[in-house]
Amino acid sequence: MSHVQTAGIILAAGKGTRMKSDLPKCAFEVCGIPMAELVGRAMREGGVERVVVVIGHRGEVLRGLLGHDYEFAEQTEQLGTGHATMMAAPALEGFEGNVVISAGDTPLVTGDVFRRLIARHEETHAGVTVLAVHVPDPHGYGRIILDDQGDVARVVEHRDATEEERAVDLISTLHYCVDAKLLFEVLPELRNENDQNEYYLPDIVPAILARGRRAALFIAPQWSELQGVNDRWQLAQTAKELRMRILKRHAMAGVTIVDPDSTYIGADVQIDPDVVIQPMSMIVGRTRIGQGSEIGPGVRIDNSLIGRDCRILMSQLERAELGDDVRVGPFANLRPATVCQKGVRVGNFVELKNAQLAPGVKASHLSYLGDATVGADTNIGAGTIFCNYDGFAKHRTTIGNNAFVGSNTTLVAPIRVGDGAVIAAGSVVTKNVPDDALGITRATQENKEEWAQRWRARKRGQAMEHEPTGRTE
Ligand code: UD1
Ligand code: MG
Repeated sequence: MSHVQTAGIILAAGKGTRMKSDLPKCAFEVCGIPMAELVGRAMREGGVERVVVVIGHRGEVLRGLLGHDYEFAEQTEQLGTGHATMMAAPALEGFEGNVVISAGDTPLVTGDVFRRLIARHEETHAGVTVLAVHVPDPHGYGRIILDDQGDVARVVEHRDATEEERAVDLISTLHYCVDAKLLFEVLPELRNENDQNEYYLPDIVPAILARGRRAALFIAPQWSELQGVNDRWQLAQTAKELRMRILKRHAMAGVTIVDPDSTYIGADVQIDPDVVIQPMSMIVGRTRIGQGSEIGPGVRIDNSLIGRDCRILMSQLERAELGDDVRVGPFANLRPATVCQKGVRVGNFVELKNAQLAPGVKASHLSYLGDATVGADTNIGAGTIFCNYDGFAKHRTTIGNNAFVGSNTTLVAPIRVGDGAVIAAGSVVTKNVPDDALGITRATQENKEEWAQRWRARKRGQAMEHEPTGRTE
């Protein structure tokens, strides 16, 4: 059997007035992915081989977000969904096969929906197959008017519909599968004689019927997958639905999600089995988490790599990389380009920025390590500050293996501390410390014998002089 090629067209040129934004509607993200891309991914899962996105209002934004896997067509004036589809004609010039068309504002659509729409189209040999769904409230949607055979006769827009037509609860969600050649033949025939003076894509149905081809119907079982986004409240509802879908996918793959209501996992996050996600955790970007790790409560991880058996508690990580068995938190801040190798401990109120920590390093309390390289098994005492910035440029601190940095040390970069070196607590270090040396910069301590006793006696005497005499008036 010869394989019929399938191309996709995503209509995403509209501004989306009800979003009340300058950003084009289809660029809004749901669980971290622009809506148009979610539609594109579902199309590809459903068997669509190439995808043309019709962009218009601030099209460069979508072009930048979607990247290499997409072809683009421009619609400079938004004259309707039929007109938008026609803009994809040059990109699909000479293409033979099926064209699947979808609005870019239905981010919950699945690969399965597209697969079944295409399958139905092929088995009926129809010219066009219209995806339909029964909805609780059809207000605003195009109603599907059937013929005697149960095929589609036409789709009438809400604003153009009669009272009787408005009572129909079977609607079009603007997902169509059409024979490519037929589509680009009939599109130029569309007229804009309707309430909005727009060229309506659904009007291809009567045009295709007029050519003696069939308009088949595919009724999707689930309305929830086809809901569109027109305002930010619908965007929020949609995000909730997709979020639950993502959480369920991870749960079914062996991840413990302790509290789905307070757990946010982006669409591109990868999590190994036997990971536990505690409540109030937000894991986004292209984050990956290794087997056996426990995340949360109260963690935000963005675009980071987490090894196996790590524990991260009440902390924030952005573009950080952790090896296996790393402990972070509570209340640590790991900023971009931080690497913590196997067994590293990062404790409370520790901030790391562009810091590379070799295996076994401990920075357990109240420290800032910026622009740093720290060797294996080195201990950074409480209150250590790496002074990486002189007001003009950033400088690096390099510490060797097995070094010991005493508490409340200030390391003024650029600086190098050797292997096995010890820094005395409270030192302000401005010169390199050689291997195995002691670096100490604090003043020498002096003890004055019995000074405290004398001091207290003097203080008591002064206090008695000032006491009231107790005389009565
Ligand atoms: C459209 C359908 C309607 C269907 C509904 C489902 C038409 C005429 N109506 O109505 O049958 O029930 O979707 O939600 O098709 N777009 C462009 N260029 C344009 C106009 C729109 O690219 O000139 C894009 C928009 O960016 C959007 C999509 O097409 O992604 C749908 O446009 P929208 O204005 O939301 O159409 P509806 O009124 O919802
Ligand atoms: Mg719409």
